[in-house]
Amino acid sequence: MDKLQFSDSILDWYSIHKRDLPWRALGVDPYYVVVSEIMLQQTQVPRVIEKYKEFLSRFPTIFDLASAPRGEVIDAWSGLGYNRRAIMLQQFAQEVVRLYDGKIPAVPEALIKLSGIGPYAAGSIASFAFNRAEPAIDVNVRRIYMRYFHGRDQGLPMSKEEEKKLYGLVKESIPSGRSCDLHNGLMDFGSLVCLRDAPKCQDCVLKQSCAFFPLYTNAKEKVLFVAEKRVERGIYENGRHIPNRIFRGRIVEFVRKHTGEEISLLELGTCVKKDFVDSEKEWLFGLCEKLRKEGMIEIELKNENVRLRLGK
Ligand code: ADE
Repeated sequence: MDKLQFSDSILDWYSIHKRDLPWRALGVDPYYVVVSEIMLQQTQVPRVIEKYKEFLSRFPTIFDLASAPRGEVIDAWSGLGYNRRAIMLQQFAQEVVRLYDGKIPAVPEALIKLSGIGPYAAGSIASFAFNRAEPAIDVNVRRIYMRYFHGRDQGLPMSKEEEKKLYGLVKESIPSGRSCDLHNGLMDFGSLVCLRDAPKCQDCVLKQSCAFFPLYTNAKEKVLFVAEKRVERGIYENGRHIPNRIFRGRIVEFVRKHTGEEISLLELGTCVKKDFVDSEKEWLFGLCEKLRKEGMIEIELKNENVRLRLGK
């Protein structure tokens, strides 16, 4: 599907289902956006809502935050966890006061040079605070685009090349003047519909054109699976989500039959997973390593190959 049609659908959906969050008010101070974004990095929305208001009533401007004693900032952060974020946020405020007279820069290239700001935060501040057409790729955004455009679920690390392509894809999908709304829509869509473990594919407005939808054939089974057993890690095989424990069993079975044989990871992968591809080697090796640590198997590395034996 066309990238802009995709974002139009997200925007339409967002206009009906948007969550009313305090940092989304029209024309909100960029400093408030920064505070919310840093808080949201590792903390759930309901907890952030509480702490966000409290924090801003203690430090209403970037100047108040910059000049506060560090202990007070850490104290105001309590309950959010990862205290290092509080220290970095204060350093960010001090740098903005010193270098930019308290005016937060609008472009990612300048933002990323400041304390505590990585590629995601740089994009999200540019997009949420200044409505600039800059991708802000967090786990939600990544999951939605990888599923919709590539029929791929999350779970596997991406190469630099793939990350770059994803960045280009997100950038091209931002309609003129709608970056902030699109990103907010994506955040909500990822939290309410395109969920990590039990996506609501049947109710999804994008299902007709989504590359992931046809692969998600056993949706009902999967929802039950997640509800009853909590999250079980796994991977898609021919469009079906298969838990890692099944592959672990297949690996051990393989080793039992072929003990001591030298084999490449690709060959091993092909033996234990029907649609194994090169990029899944890391995942496969991870499973082998875990089995080794548990004493189930022994691994001998031989250049690009492995020799596996059952554990003693
Ligand atoms: N997570 C990160 N940024 C967010 C936002 N603006 N709204 C909801 N969740 C988020």
